[in-house]
Amino acid sequence: MPFVPQLFRAFMGSGGRSSSEGFCYREGRTLLLLPSPPESGVLGPGAKGSGEVFYNPAMASSRTRSVLLFKHATEEGLLGDGEIYALDGLTASGLRARRWLNELPKEIAGRISASMVDLDIEALNWAEKSHVRFPPDHGKGVLESVLGDLRVEVLSSGRHWVDIDPYGSPAKFVDSSMQSMARSGVMEVSATDTAALTGSSKTSLMRRYGARVRNDSLSHDSGMRVMLALMSRIAARHDRSISPLLSVWDSHHLRVSFRVEKSVSAANDFEEDIGWRVFSPTEEEVSASMDSGLLPRCSLNGLPIHCMLPLNFPVDRLDPRVSGPLWINATGEMGAMSSMTVGSALESCGPDFVEEDPAGWDERRFERERRVVSRSVRNISEESGVIDARHLIVVDDLSSWLGTGAPPSPTRIVELLKEEGHKAGVSSYGRPSFRTDSPWEDIVEAARSIHPPM
Ligand SMILES: C[S@@+](CC[C@H](N)C(=O)[O-])C[C@H]1O[C@@H](n2cnc3c(N)ncnc32)[C@H](O)[C@@H]1O
Repeated sequence: MPFVPQLFRAFMGSGGRSSSEGFCYREGRTLLLLPSPPESGVLGPGAKGSGEVFYNPAMASSRTRSVLLFKHATEEGLLGDGEIYALDGLTASGLRARRWLNELPKEIAGRISASMVDLDIEALNWAEKSHVRFPPDHGKGVLESVLGDLRVEVLSSGRHWVDIDPYGSPAKFVDSSMQSMARSGVMEVSATDTAALTGSSKTSLMRRYGARVRNDSLSHDSGMRVMLALMSRIAARHDRSISPLLSVWDSHHLRVSFRVEKSVSAANDFEEDIGWRVFSPTEEEVSASMDSGLLPRCSLNGLPIHCMLPLNFPVDRLDPRVSGPLWINATGEMGAMSSMTVGSALESCGPDFVEEDPAGWDERRFERERRVVSRSVRNISEESGVIDARHLIVVDDLSSWLGTGAPPSPTRIVELLKEEGHKAGVSSYGRPSFRTDSPWEDIVEAARSIHPPM
């Protein structure tokens, strides 16, 4: 069951209005109707009773980023220049597809032909009811609902955009969805089976994703990379290659968004992006990592906490230091990430106060939703310039590794590394951390200048 913080539940109770039509609520700029207030909807798959619709407000940020990524991908021509066939594959309340149409500018929305697919007729009825009651203001775009199994429905035509947002693991939906992708398109895939992906449930991880993950402070990053490696392998099977645009670990789920392109030659090379992450690497492993361009050059006097290795490096897969196979290159793209500023998020998705609001919201409640929208892109554009940096370092790990006592502040160590002329930036990863391309000895020196060894 997805984890929903208690605080969030309390807060969810403070907005929305019941009427004979249902419970009216808002996320971003889009109004929706639900059979009951979100407190009951957020309980998750196990608790969804008949007549209820799965709606998880804790995923609002993921839907906001989806709107922003759709905008970026269209503006950059990743989705072609004609009609855009988009699929909200496991739609539930239909909110994700409806947010694309409602919150994207009318020139983009007018190109979209979106399908909301779900096995649950009740959910689709509510999705349609919401769309009829609250259609996009600009009246553009096409939205249809399709009752059926995603794995079957997805094959009915080619798609430029496919969203897969399941209960638990997405693994079983990816193969058929990949086959349906147009020559150039975008796929977004979520997973809530974080116990598997972060290495807590080792057998589930091996069964679903064919990988191992060391359950340490980078395990959520490793989990996202394992997901990307699986996507890449499945894409290659269908003569396609992937390029990550954005990978995010939110409180209870992982989500990877990537471009998919048809190219046999790129598909042939897919193993170049796959390899291993090794904790506490040996001199030989650090040298091999540097030789493969996976680690900035450094002396071998002090060794880094982790390094990446290419797939052809002979690792012992049962060695508890080793995670993988996983994606060893950047998990996001600078352009896509830099487009996700607070300003652009509020411009597209921030609701403006209206008198006599159908959801009954007052000005304070609107302001609160605008803050939620702002938070959904926190640190993403700032991190865009360093997303391809080879080191992702959790500051707690660094202080224990060096025996320096208190961890350095990510902001302070980034400042020092930049002063030395290195690329560095605070990370949006879920633990206080930074990314940098500095040689390891410069990172050590910066950390020790902030907190000398005890
Ligand atoms: C986690 S919910 C989706 C949440 C939704 N994407 C959102 O943003 O709120 C998963 C949905 O998938 C539907 N579902 C499960 N298996 C399916 C399948 N094989 N084909 C289509 N829909 C399916 C369920 O009925 C449920 O509504």
